[in-house]
Amino acid sequence: MSDQIHAEKILILDFGSQYTQLIARRVREAQSYCEIHPYNLTVQEIRDFKPRGIILSGGHQSVYDQQAREVDPVIFELGVPVLGICYGMHLMTRFFGGEVEASETREYGHGKIKKITTSSPLFDALLPSEAWGNVWMSHGDHVTTAPKGFKVVAESENGIVAALEDAGRHLYAVQFHPEVNHTEKGEKLLDAFIRQVCGCQGLWTPAGFVEYEIEHARQQVGEDRVLLGLSGGVDSSVVAALLHRALGDQLTCVFVDNGLLRLNEGDEVMATFAEHMGVKVIRVDAEEMFLSRLKGVQDPEKKRKIIGHTFIEVFEEEARKIEGVRWLAQGTIYPDVIESAGAKSGMATNIKSHHNVGGLPERMGLKLLEPLRELFKDEVRNVGLALGLPKKMVFRHPFPGPGLGVRILGEVKKEFADLLRRADAIYMEELYRSGHYEKSAQAFTVFLPVKSVGVMGDGRSYDYVVALRAVETKDYMTATAYPMPHELLSKIANRIINEVKGINRVTYDITSKPPGTIEWE
Ligand code: XMP
Repeated sequence: MSDQIHAEKILILDFGSQYTQLIARRVREAQSYCEIHPYNLTVQEIRDFKPRGIILSGGHQSVYDQQAREVDPVIFELGVPVLGICYGMHLMTRFFGGEVEASETREYGHGKIKKITTSSPLFDALLPSEAWGNVWMSHGDHVTTAPKGFKVVAESENGIVAALEDAGRHLYAVQFHPEVNHTEKGEKLLDAFIRQVCGCQGLWTPAGFVEYEIEHARQQVGEDRVLLGLSGGVDSSVVAALLHRALGDQLTCVFVDNGLLRLNEGDEVMATFAEHMGVKVIRVDAEEMFLSRLKGVQDPEKKRKIIGHTFIEVFEEEARKIEGVRWLAQGTIYPDVIESAGAKSGMATNIKSHHNVGGLPERMGLKLLEPLRELFKDEVRNVGLALGLPKKMVFRHPFPGPGLGVRILGEVKKEFADLLRRADAIYMEELYRSGHYEKSAQAFTVFLPVKSVGVMGDGRSYDYVVALRAVETKDYMTATAYPMPHELLSKIANRIINEVKGINRVTYDITSKPPGTIEWE
């Protein structure tokens, strides 16, 4: 099998830092495959992994804590280059007999460091001059005495040891966080570690992944048939394109139109996949079933549950009609894998509460096929582009599983969904046209089932209200309102009020998350 892309692997040992995922993303950006594993992986497991390099993450502990997380020190003797970040640096220092000073107060935020020694394989390329720009610090403890054999490469303005190395033994350590964007040369430092010190050539590319995964899926599935719930979102769309390339007609997609989709969404999904790409897609029109079950229901959680259960019911019924299906494909991506692994080992800091089709494969007796489970979202997008999916689909904002069901406050009615769809289509059109769609992380319209008085021409109006929402966020756990230009908002509001009969007032939501959430329900 062409497993070239996995030939050069970086192992990230996680000591519980909030930035561990970022390290992995930076390594992937340097086109090297990497995996995050818990800090207590055994030496045998590490050997079996065959890493080209190891990165020890930071962590919120002090090496002096009673339950301080330790790494098996044999890893420093494998001859594999190791980069210790923050807590990882302290572990390395202590193991080699250097001194770490425990501190009650944390140094947190921007810092400046300067180079104090020359001729370093890792740092030289980055440090042609003395100044190294800003770095991001987040630590309590710090190194006071370098271990024997180690050179201090850089220090902070306060004289704190910022970078250490023992090039002979391929050991490197930094006090600051190169994985965080605030560290100006951080990306370059990680790139230099991966390419110059570990000798990786950058085999991890979207095209390489597609080639590998096509072969892999063919081997896994054989002659079996595969089912995929296609939502039109980025992840399931990329899975559909990838598996279609790999398996052709062995793949059947089911697209459930629940009546809570955006304007023309169903037609667009069918046009892209069924018409242009020749993917077998069954479109199920279940609008009436969903809307009738939602009748009279006000409570957001009840609405979510009804939509979730009905989806599973419809999906299962369709699936039963297709003979010989053994696999259910899902758009699980690497952050989901890390989160559930982290939740099991008690290392996770954030756990998402949104799940859409949990339990389905077990109940249906299907095996799971998850071709994207090694990828971060931006990698999924690049794979989508490599597969020739339209840019508009690949760079789509997230859309929640319950769809417009959580964007129509209170009871969901077809009349409200129709008004919301039309208003939202205008909002999106203007965002695309002005370039603000790409700049914001998520934007949508919310329908408020209250009426307000207005004046249209010479007459009085008494119609519904919509709220426009747009946010800036990287992780969707916290978010701030997107600073949409006023003139653009006025233009959108005017268009909605003039073009969508039944809406006479438009507001812009400026709530951050927390205390708000991104969706209104
Ligand atoms: P909140 O509203 O909790 O949303 O700030 C965070 C992100 O998750 C999306 N979201 C969902 N996605 N199923 C999903 O697949 C859901 O039930 C769901 N609820 C919210 C939301 O759009 C935002 O991107």
